[in-house]
Amino acid sequence: MTLAETLEKLSNACGVTGREEEVRNLMKKFLKPYVDEVKEDKLGNVIGIKQGMKNAPKVMLAAHMDEIGLLIKTISKEGFLRFAKMGGIDDRILLAQKVIVCTERGILHGIIGSKPPHIQKEEERKKVITYDDLFIDIGARNLEEAKKMGVKIGNPIGFDIKFVKVGRNIVIGKAFDDRVGCAVMVEAMKRLKKTDCTVYAVGTIQEEVGLRGATTAAFGIYPDIGIALDVTIAGDVPGVKEAEAPIKMRKGPSIEVADAGLITHPKVLSLLIDVAEKNKIPYQLETGLPGATDAARISLTREGVPCGVISVPTRYIHSPASMLCLDDAENTVKLVVAVIQEIPKRF
Ligand code: CO
Ligand code: ZN
Repeated sequence: MTLAETLEKLSNACGVTGREEEVRNLMKKFLKPYVDEVKEDKLGNVIGIKQGMKNAPKVMLAAHMDEIGLLIKTISKEGFLRFAKMGGIDDRILLAQKVIVCTERGILHGIIGSKPPHIQKEEERKKVITYDDLFIDIGARNLEEAKKMGVKIGNPIGFDIKFVKVGRNIVIGKAFDDRVGCAVMVEAMKRLKKTDCTVYAVGTIQEEVGLRGATTAAFGIYPDIGIALDVTIAGDVPGVKEAEAPIKMRKGPSIEVADAGLITHPKVLSLLIDVAEKNKIPYQLETGLPGATDAARISLTREGVPCGVISVPTRYIHSPASMLCLDDAENTVKLVVAVIQEIPKRF
């Protein structure tokens, strides 16, 4: 499978935070041919291990398998679903979205509805409708029918978006945050023929609600170096100022210098930059992002782990559909592979 095909499969899978089964199964399958062992830990992180020589430095790669989404909170007697939000979701993007409800009996389709604009009062129309005033319509007649269709309190709900190719090497899809990190990790393990490091390729859970899976996975592995593979905001769109979001799509992976959760360890930062320079891989440097990645937690494991973040510039993250350039993902793979080869010389 190519990088794009792996991304397509992962993007189309549903993995609302805390309910990552579908993505986890794909990750196990995709990693298996390229590692010595695939494990699932007690919380549900997937860990692919590629053994290096004895006493080799341990590298932990982390890409989160979960995505932002919704959970059924209540089912009304008329058969409409109210929901809770999982992860950072702007209420303004919810209205009129098509969604899929994942039940034990399979997928149901639905739409997020609200009172039609025609009958809204002037002042109502100006206000953002918050998520607790919205509902999901699955076409059920009433509570009984909804139950018969399989819905239960707590069912995860994802956005109904299918992966599609648009411009030259540009793709649109669901949950590129962080399925592109997962796809990059799989592809990097595939291309990594022999390494003197022992590599732990970890698909983490529950990143979007507080970097939870990475916390326990890193405790178990206690690596010598950690690298999170994630997305960052591509700000090269109308209405965004350079100083607000300087990272651009098509300009290569972003190497993070600092974000709200991590100041990249100087040894890791120089490793990433030197390797990119030496291999002529385009890259961008980024600071001051308000969010955090799995690397924030990995770095605080036990006595501490030097960490860094490599991100794929992605437009419209934390919305139903996002966009990225496959060349950026490809260059991220190249950087990750080259960095792993260089680690034994420096750690
Ligand atoms: Co995210
Ligand atoms: Zn992410």
